Amino acid sequence: MTTSPTIETNVKGLGETSARRRRIAVIPGDGIGKEVIPEACRVLEVACAGMLEFTEFDWGADRYLRDGTTLPVDAPEMLSKDFDAILLGAMGDPRVPSNVHAADILLGLRFKLDLYVNARPCILFDRKMTPLKDRTESDIQFMVFRENTEGLYAGMGGFFKKGTPDEVATQEDVNTRKGVERIVRYAFEYARGRGLRRVCMSDKSNALTFAHDLWQRVFHLVRQEYPEITASHMYIDNLLMQMVRDPSQFDVIVTCNVFGDIASDLGAQIAGGLGLAPSGNIHPGRVSMFEPVHGSAPAIAGKNLADPLGAILCAAMMLEYLGLPDEAREIDTAVRAAIREGKTTEDLGGNLGTRETGEWVAGAVGRK
Ligand code: NAD
Ligand code: IPM
Ligand code: MN
Repeated sequence: MTTSPTIETNVKGLGETSARRRRIAVIPGDGIGKEVIPEACRVLEVACAGMLEFTEFDWGADRYLRDGTTLPVDAPEMLSKDFDAILLGAMGDPRVPSNVHAADILLGLRFKLDLYVNARPCILFDRKMTPLKDRTESDIQFMVFRENTEGLYAGMGGFFKKGTPDEVATQEDVNTRKGVERIVRYAFEYARGRGLRRVCMSDKSNALTFAHDLWQRVFHLVRQEYPEITASHMYIDNLLMQMVRDPSQFDVIVTCNVFGDIASDLGAQIAGGLGLAPSGNIHPGRVSMFEPVHGSAPAIAGKNLADPLGAILCAAMMLEYLGLPDEAREIDTAVRAAIREGKTTEDLGGNLGTRETGEWVAGAVGRK
């Protein structure tokens, strides 16, 4: 590593630094999303007094169960036109076992807004938080770039003879030349922009000989444009093992949709825990969506137990994207202080609740 990264993505944001008020669409969603997002907003209010304008949307399981609404048809266009960024909590509720509302809202927004980059930083803030023996902060500082608009998530496939003993279920792995190239290129651009030396592409081309052959060929072409960067490849099974064995070998990882989903939960845990992990769903230059990596955690929802730091770090990522890096850094610094001083929820060894942690971080930002 040649730099010490903070949580920000720092690549091709909205590209403006004016004092214009940024319009933020807030979608708390389900479960702990409804607890952690208010804490992120509390911190944003302090960090950016008067610079942000929040509008809340009630899309999620309650609304779906009440009137059948998932993602309103005009939502993508409205969000693109009227907002600069979206802050989302989590989608998923045991009362909706099909997960249909979550697929419509969460995946719907990723696809319909064409948010092709899912940036999931794995950065260890304090060595006491990693379960990996003898690892320190400098060992765990990498970014996972997950392709976010195709692959196994494309929703292509179906059932044949559903519910019978002869049932067939298919789910197509859709990989396009354009889709693979733009995420691979984004990973290299990010590395170049930050002076990072290593980009590792992970696939399963030894078994998925069509879909991931495309990843191989595209990666080989794009890497040639970045001669200063060491480009490597690992099969996904090896990558996950290597992330545990020696995470210091990674600066930037780029992979397909489903592998990125899995790798980012593992990455979150080695970097301190799922409650702490932020992510950005980004289309450079367009309205983009920031959400913690974790889900709605139904078992702890409504108990003031959820860790809000992942959502608060999403707020910092969002500010960076919106061209407010100083405010983003203040939040990042306050979160590091909360961890250092043990002002955290139980998952990180503290004894504060969700609200009290949010209040502490907001207070630290206010005192800066
Ligand atoms: P989960 O992330 O909700 O929970 C996994 C484990 O981590 C649980 O033990 C939970 O208590 C713990 N956890 C998660 N976030 C935490 C936090 N902030 N503080 C403390 N502990 C935390 O994953 P799951 O249990 O697999 O899924 C639950 C629901 O969430 C499902 O409906 C799933 O589809 C959905 N989900 C949504 C998203 C999203 O909206 N982005 C992401 C993952 C899962
Ligand atoms: C995530 C989640 C989602 C995904 C689910 C809820 C569809 O796990 O954001 O990581 O798989 O992308
Ligand atoms: Mn996930």
